[in-house]
Amino acid sequence: MTQDDAAPGHFISFEGIDGSGKSTQTQLLADKLRDAGHDVLLTREPGGSPGAEEIRKLVLKGDPDRWSAETELLLFTAARRDHLERLIEPALADGKIVICDRFADSTRMYQGVSRGDLRGKVDTLHSLMIGREPDLTLLIDMDPAQGLARAKSRKGTEERFEDFGTDLQEKMRAGFLELAKQYPDRMRTVDGTATVAHVAAQIWRIVSAHLDKAQ
Ligand code: TYD
Repeated sequence: MTQDDAAPGHFISFEGIDGSGKSTQTQLLADKLRDAGHDVLLTREPGGSPGAEEIRKLVLKGDPDRWSAETELLLFTAARRDHLERLIEPALADGKIVICDRFADSTRMYQGVSRGDLRGKVDTLHSLMIGREPDLTLLIDMDPAQGLARAKSRKGTEERFEDFGTDLQEKMRAGFLELAKQYPDRMRTVDGTATVAHVAAQIWRIVSAHLDKAQ
């Protein structure tokens, strides 16, 4: 699968550590874009398509050591391939704005850096099986202690990654900021410690400028 720059839609991903406020902000952005008359698909990873949601259940539930980082890499990539084929690419071809809560940058960080030294394998598998980057990626940056407190307060059953603790989240924060330097053309960093409204305003400025430029 190759990057389809000719597709009329826009592909926007959100990244950040657990509890950084991505789900709130993706929802607010989707609402605002719809109010402005855009056709929006709001989706998330792992998951999004029925097959990928099945894989989500496998990877997010159970003991933290249920899978090795290598097996996780394969599972997340399989889920992404299904999501891309069945949901994201058709939506982009229809001219929609696709907002995705996490995409390949999460694999670069979680499986590539924090859970093992697999970054080379992550990139190879990505170019073999995915071959597509978002047009714009919003990185919500924040202090891991604050993020983890939020994530834990949700008390869900999908806690495998949240159980890894603050050290992992610290490593991830640094890794995400490094990644933003590696992909300056598509990645923008937003200060996630501000109020929800202020973070949403920062995001709106970046997305509006991106859409204006793309016209
Ligand atoms: P989720 O409950 O959606 O967390 P969040 O709201 O923080 O996004 O769980 C997603 C978890 O899966 C999260 O801890 C990050 C992890 N993950 C990976 O390890 N690799 C990946 O490729 C993706 C997409 C997510």
